[in-house]
Amino acid sequence: MTEQFAIECKEITKRFGSVLANDRINLQVKYGEIMALLGENGSGKTTLMNMLSGIYHPDGGTISVGGKEVVINSPMDAMGLGIGMIHQHFKLVDVFSAMDNVVLGTKEKRLKPKVLKQKILDICSSVGLEIDPEKKIYDMSVSEKQTVEILKVLYRGAQILILDEPTAVLTPQETEKLFAILRKMKEQGCAIIIITHKLHEVLDISDRVTILRKGQSIETVMTAGCDEKKLTDLMVGRPVSLEIERPEVAEKNTILKVVDLTVMKTDGTMALDDISFDIKTGEILGVAGVAGSGQKELCETITGLMAAKQGAILYHKENIVGKTPAEIIKLGISMSFVPEDRLGMGLVASMGMVDNMLLKTYSSGKGPFVERNGAREQAERLVERLGIVTPGVDTPVRLMSGGNVQKVLLGREIEASPQVLITAYPVRGLDINSSYTVYDLLNEQKKKGVAVIFIGEDLDVLLELSDRIMVLCHGQITGIVDAKKTTKEEIGLMMTGRSVEKEVVA
Ligand SMILES: Nc1ncnc2c1ncn2[C@@H]1O[C@H](COP(=O)(O)OP(=O)(O)O)[C@@H](O)[C@H]1O
Ligand SMILES: [Mg+2]
Repeated sequence: MTEQFAIECKEITKRFGSVLANDRINLQVKYGEIMALLGENGSGKTTLMNMLSGIYHPDGGTISVGGKEVVINSPMDAMGLGIGMIHQHFKLVDVFSAMDNVVLGTKEKRLKPKVLKQKILDICSSVGLEIDPEKKIYDMSVSEKQTVEILKVLYRGAQILILDEPTAVLTPQETEKLFAILRKMKEQGCAIIIITHKLHEVLDISDRVTILRKGQSIETVMTAGCDEKKLTDLMVGRPVSLEIERPEVAEKNTILKVVDLTVMKTDGTMALDDISFDIKTGEILGVAGVAGSGQKELCETITGLMAAKQGAILYHKENIVGKTPAEIIKLGISMSFVPEDRLGMGLVASMGMVDNMLLKTYSSGKGPFVERNGAREQAERLVERLGIVTPGVDTPVRLMSGGNVQKVLLGREIEASPQVLITAYPVRGLDINSSYTVYDLLNEQKKKGVAVIFIGEDLDVLLELSDRIMVLCHGQITGIVDAKKTTKEEIGLMMTGRSVEKEVVA
């Protein structure tokens, strides 16, 4: 007898205009199994999952659930088949409680609150979800919101759970919690499909991995017996080096000096507490710290988006505190910040790359008569250099996959030829190959003499790429160390506020 799969896709094809997003994809997932779906940005992962959850309809091919061929016309149909998807961007009603969101759209809205609450708590305890059913969504952290999304699909009886890059918005500790929940669900016989770009997570959580490349299913492998290198090579289709270069630049001059800088948040609490550091040309200064330690405020104060309460920011010895963002950009300081939810990155979603490039050129003060052709050339150069997947440079940015949008964002900053480039979380959500492209780009800038401030999350990457690492904790600097002479453990300690016996390097 053939095995009954929870999900079986045969020759699934989906086209968007000229883009063949899914090209005869085959996929099989068993009950009681966690399958990782791996592929570069734009390889068709989300599209395929959206067809399983009834958002898109395949142009060709068949889907079977529990051994029966089905047609999934809507998310309702999917739910009826026991398929629930946790999307990259949550779909919760902000002013409602967790409980109200969970029952929204179900027949059981009219259950007595007490009965409902107990039912929810029972589901939670069965898989280890921690949630306060009465808490309002607007009071929740990203991770809590995700928990509500999971609860929502479990409440509807999902046996097949799809998670599209769930860990992109989580801290390592939150990811561990999520994985514990997924393991429990697997034990109970659920089939789980998870998309993540973090290979150590793929190795940690999955039983098998299906690899997509350019819309095609390339191979399915057992996770046991794989390593990061093997997965990367399969994903990219050729051997890829996982080394990060650290070129030496001979001539270094201090270009930016932050002196006794204090910044308050709008709610009156301290964001940056009397910090001082400098950055040189031809240097990458890595910034480490738990999210929310002052990284965002640092970026925004240097670029004039936030006001300083005290202190100075000397750029070429001139104090730029008090200047407008437009003036600061014109002076040659450029910044891009990829937020946790990867929304609101400063691009206009309805416009194509060309117009988004023009937008930046305008703000740098070249006037309204900029040449569209110039912007078009820039955009085309970026597509080529960064391997951006898009039907064309005029395709609205909102139709591009998240990773590709991020490449546009960083590329645009670089095209502005800054002298100081501040980049926060540029590889958030990027596949590994694209991440390495970004590291190469930053190194290229460094070799050109640009001073790069790189705010990162992955300590291994910070250690390999940076010349010096500055560690932030609760808005204070707990250390500035030579990246070649420090360890992950030491950085970790400094991130929690402990200072390490270490010479501070200038
Ligand atoms: N609604 C859409 N309209 C046009 N093109 C789309 C749409 N959704 C996805 N695409 C394109 O399909 C390809 C695959 O995208 P996607 O499935 O989001 O990739 P992934 O999730 O692997 O990053 C990309 O080239 C993307 O630009
Ligand atoms: Mg995707």
